[in-house]
Formats: sequence, C-alpha cells, structure tokens
Amino acid sequence: MLGVDVVIVVTGGSGFIGAHLCERLLDDGYGVRVVDIVPPKSGTKAEFARVSVLDAARLTKILSGAEGVVHLAALIDVSASVSDPFSDFSVNAAGTMNVLEAARHAGVKKLAFASSAAVYGEPVRLPVDEEHPTAPLSPYGAAKLAAERYVLLYNSLYGMENTALRLFNVYGEGQNASSPYSGVITKFANAISEGSRPMIFGDGEQTRDFVHVDDVCDAFVRAIEGQGCSSPLNIASGVETSVRELLETMCGICGADFSPTYMPERKGEIARSVADIKLARKRIGYAPRMALSQGLRELLEAKGGARSIFRPKK
Ligand SMILES: NC(=O)c1ccc[n+]([C@@H]2O[C@H](COP(=O)([O-])OP(=O)(O)OC[C@H]3O[C@@H](n4cnc5c(N)ncnc54)[C@H](O)[C@@H]3O)[C@@H](O)[C@H]2O)c1
Repeated sequence: MLGVDVVIVVTGGSGFIGAHLCERLLDDGYGVRVVDIVPPKSGTKAEFARVSVLDAARLTKILSGAEGVVHLAALIDVSASVSDPFSDFSVNAAGTMNVLEAARHAGVKKLAFASSAAVYGEPVRLPVDEEHPTAPLSPYGAAKLAAERYVLLYNSLYGMENTALRLFNVYGEGQNASSPYSGVITKFANAISEGSRPMIFGDGEQTRDFVHVDDVCDAFVRAIEGQGCSSPLNIASGVETSVRELLETMCGICGADFSPTYMPERKGEIARSVADIKLARKRIGYAPRMALSQGLRELLEAKGGARSIFRPKK
C-alpha cells in the first residue's frame, strides 16, 4: 500500500504533461514534490520547490528521501533551440546531468526521463522502432539524445534503474497552442470554436503519431514502478494520422464544416511519423487506451465554453 511518505519528485511538474502526471501520482497515493521554475496550478496537493534544474546544489537536497524522479523539465521549443542552441543544451542536456547527479548523491535509485521522437529525425522506415537510426535535425533532438544516453548509462555505472521514454506527439487538455508537438490540435480547436478557418501547412498529408497525455502518464508510472530498462522506449499510440484526417475528425465531432485554408509547407518538418510500441509493451506493460477520436472528443468538451463548439449535424 502506498502512502504519501513514498515521494516522487517531478521536475517540470508545472508543465502540460507534468500537471497531469502529478494528479495521477497523487491519485495513486504517492506524495509528489514538483521542481519547476514556475508554480503549478493552484489547488494541487503537490509540494512545490521553485528550483531550476541548473541549480545542482539545491537539487540534491530536494531529492533526498524521494523514491524516484520523473524528469520532465525542459525547453521544448525546437525552433528556439536552433536560434539559441546553448540555452537548449544547458537545460536539456546539462540540466539532465544535474538531476542525475543529484539523484545519485541523494541515493535515489529510479529516474524516468522524457526523451523525444525528435532523436530519430526524418524516419527512413516506418513504423519507427527503437533500433531505427538516430539522426536529430535540431539542437533540441541532439540534447535529448545525449541526455537519454546519460540516463541509461547510470544504470550500468551506478546501479540505477532508469528509463528513457521517447514521447511522440502528446496531446490533451491544458496543452499550449504553441507546443511544437501537438499544438496543432489546440489551434484547430480554437479555430473551430471561433468559427474561423483552420490553417493546414502543406497538403495536410504529413502524418504524426498522436498519443493522449493519460496514456503517457501511465507509461511514466509504469517506468517509475519498474526496474529500469537498458533500451529507450517509444511511447506513442502506434497509429499514423495525417493532419488532414485529424482536422476532419475534429470537424466531424463538432459538426463543423471541413474548410481549411491551405498554407505553404513549413521547412524542416518531417513528412511522416508513426511509432512501433511493441518494446514498451514488453518491457513495462505499456498499452495505450485512448483512441484519438475519443481523446479529441474529451478535449473539445473540456475546452472553455466548448459546448458552443458543437453544432447540430445538418
Ligand atoms: N508534449 C509533447 O508532445 C512531448 C513530446 C516529446 C517529448 N516531450 C518532453 O516531455 C517533457 C514535458 O513536456 P511538456 O509538453 O509538458 O512541456 P512544458 O513546456 O509544458 O513543460 C516543461 C516544464 O519544464 C519547466 N522548466 C523549463 N526550464 C526549467 C528549468 N531550468 N528548471 C526547472 N523547470 C524548468 C517549465 O517551466 C515547464 O513547466 C519535456 O521534457 C519535453 O521535451 C514532450
């Protein structure tokens, strides 16, 4: 039986995934300590320490006595990583080293790390499994790749039981429309609710693997409760969805007309993405449960004033 005396530290716990994960951990009976540079939403029962992952000295103290760490804190803006690669490196690579060292010195055995599909770059074959070559296209992807290597190296060097989860396009309530991952879903929802025409860049045939935030939280809980894994693990839905299909589904749910404005294709975007998730199933029992249509429906319903989005079918 878990008690609040079993504490999990969540770095980046005030962010999109972090906020959902903290509530899931609290529901499961854990004590939760958030390490972030911004406070979590009011009303949470999680403890909060306003500490940067760049502050190595304070991290060790905060991690003392914890059972495990979920390390989500990061700069997630891929284009910002291109204009300012050093800041990205500092937080995403060196910051991860700080968290790892703090865990090692504090005697915390388990760390689950949020890596990214960005480590793969443009897929050369689909679905992308964990053996797929890594060829990041941005400093963000390079820093995530370096960081996950350190995370897993600590298993063999220091007897930790760490896990690196390569997240694909996570979506769900509370995501910022500017997110490079699934901000498109929030943007489409906003456009539909405002009655404006959603924008599709390119022909809309580019594909992504959208995974619901609840399934991602489940993967992190499994990772932190498991015994670690020497290979990184893909966390995705395993379903390939084009941006055009995505918008059609959202319009279908709301009874809105499908009438996007097509804009020129954006440079640097990969054409297709879908993950092979068999290894995560095998190693941590990960099995995504939220179908995209259901996740989108819940998201649209939860959106502020969302019911006004729904129009009767003609
Ligand atoms: N959202 C996705 O689809 C997706 C996909 C792949 C990987 N990831 C990874 O998952 C993690 C969480 O992503 P998210 O979408 O919730 O992002 P987010 O931006 O909502 O959350 C990141 C959090 O990290 C915090 N943070 C930033 N710099 C910090 C610092 N120096 N010290 C402490 N905290 C700091 C931010 O304040 C924020 O609360 C990130 O590591 C991201 O790279 C996300």
